[in-house]
Amino acid sequence: MKSFLIIGNWKLNKTCKEAINYVESFKKSLRVKKVQCGLAVPFTALGALSDALKGSDILLGAQSVSDQSQGAYTGEVSAEMVKELGSSFTLIGHSERRHIYSESSKLIQEKVRRAIDEGLMPVLCLGETAQQREQHQTKQVLKDQLFSAIDGLTKDECKQIILAYEPVWAIGTGHAATAEHAQEIHKNIRDFLAEKWGEELSSLVKILYGGSVKNENILQFLSLNDINGALVGGASLNAESFADMVNLVEENET
Ligand code: PGA
Repeated sequence: MKSFLIIGNWKLNKTCKEAINYVESFKKSLRVKKVQCGLAVPFTALGALSDALKGSDILLGAQSVSDQSQGAYTGEVSAEMVKELGSSFTLIGHSERRHIYSESSKLIQEKVRRAIDEGLMPVLCLGETAQQREQHQTKQVLKDQLFSAIDGLTKDECKQIILAYEPVWAIGTGHAATAEHAQEIHKNIRDFLAEKWGEELSSLVKILYGGSVKNENILQFLSLNDINGALVGGASLNAESFADMVNLVEENET
């Protein structure tokens, strides 16, 4: 995999037509060789974007998948289905899924299992709420979220996971974490991985930062030791400015 990974998370935005227009201008504006970028899009846009992205290095992904593979689960979409439509990754455990849709740790663990079984790369999101932070529970919350989500995976399976640290208080608020906070937490997460699987695996796993990442602050996050990329919500919705962000990272890559 290339060095930095920047993923745009569109959330509940863009019809299929809008998605195709976006990708056309995104591809035109993007000038990257080393930086890898990806788009986590609504299920409905996957098929069309898989065609629109053919021949490009842009990764296509879903924002969630079912914990089930098939059967009587109305409204669910399986890992196999999104893979068939061209996804190579899926977000799992985004804070909006955990908090608005009450996804439990157990459910997230099963989704990770299902994604791995289908060969879909899980981008596992972790993050503490403002209240947990104020009560100094950040480290424990993240450790619990991580260990519960990867419980039952082998060491090799763990290598296929990408982590995203997204403090809930920073998502969509315009108040990103400070660089110092982000670095400290990413290092903590790496230490948790090392505790379970050893230093080698811990240094291999990519950990992205997410939460109010913008063109103005992305470089400060990516200059830090333990940050391997970014998960970008609001600032990924405009094709030209998101391409500018990724180009900026490319230009400053050492
Ligand atoms: P934001 O969202 O960049 O709009 O804060 C990030 C995310 O939810 O992944």
